[in-house]
Amino acid sequence: MRRFLIDTDTASDDAIALLMAFAAPDVSVEALTIVAGNCTAEQAAQNALYTAELCGVTVPVHLGRTGPLIRPLTMAAEVHGHDGLGDIGLPLSGRAVAEGRAVDVIVETVLRHPGEVTLVALGPLTNIAVALLRAPEIARKVARCVVMGGVADGVGNVTPAAEFNIFVDPEAAAVVFSSGMNLTMVGWDVSRRRAAFDADELAALRAIDTPRARFAVDILGALRRFMVGISSRDHVDLPDPIAMAVALDPSVATDVRRHAVIVDTSAGPSAGATLIDHFGSTGRPATVDVVFDASRDRFLEMLRASLAAG
Ligand code: BDR
Ligand code: CA
Repeated sequence: MRRFLIDTDTASDDAIALLMAFAAPDVSVEALTIVAGNCTAEQAAQNALYTAELCGVTVPVHLGRTGPLIRPLTMAAEVHGHDGLGDIGLPLSGRAVAEGRAVDVIVETVLRHPGEVTLVALGPLTNIAVALLRAPEIARKVARCVVMGGVADGVGNVTPAAEFNIFVDPEAAAVVFSSGMNLTMVGWDVSRRRAAFDADELAALRAIDTPRARFAVDILGALRRFMVGISSRDHVDLPDPIAMAVALDPSVATDVRRHAVIVDTSAGPSAGATLIDHFGSTGRPATVDVVFDASRDRFLEMLRASLAAG
């Protein structure tokens, strides 16, 4: 079994990514570590616990950092709903988080299983940065870290330049991207081009008609309304699920090139931008596998299979 540790600010597309990991027959999800981002860490933990319960999965859920390293927390209630799962009335309270803080769990799990743990980062990189600052040796001991974050084409989703997860905590992202970890970046550009679904496609996914399929599509309602508002088109894209697909099956990524990635930690309009050093002009070591393209067909196949499970 492959060991996965998933760090998440569990909102709607994070929850769908969790469904994919839980359905993978060869993956053991060792723990979920929770970070503040789309919603508060406490809310995200309840959302993760609810999602695990829906899938009949027992997994420890550990609370982590409640805000970025130095900046105030920016959340995304207008995108994912106030409860992060679309405000559809799910009972998202009262479940018990596990003892132990997320950062400790990340460090301890990686050190206990050197070379075996795949870290999947679906939110701001605060927990993982603090883990690296506390125990820099984990950079060499993770099997791989797959990050949903950044953009490779310069087109941001929260500002003209930045993607949400990096924008929320650029200082943390800078620590992670320069750590030398075996890191794969799945940026929002990949999601926008390969993981977008229109109303008919979402209806077809819901028609799989399992509890997981109904949950997955119903929690996307707030995100769909947000997307209609900004684009006049009823559609969503699923960044965390396509990153999870790459973590589960690296062949989903069809164009991957290794570069240095520099995170803009300025206070200016490009804060949180991810600059890809295509030609090595900065002299920084190329350590990040940047995904430039992915297979929509393979992603959809994996998504459908995970929604059909259970
Ligand atoms: C990222 O931000 C959140 O809205 C999503 O869950 C995803 O992790 C996309 O920019
Ligand atoms: Ca997320």
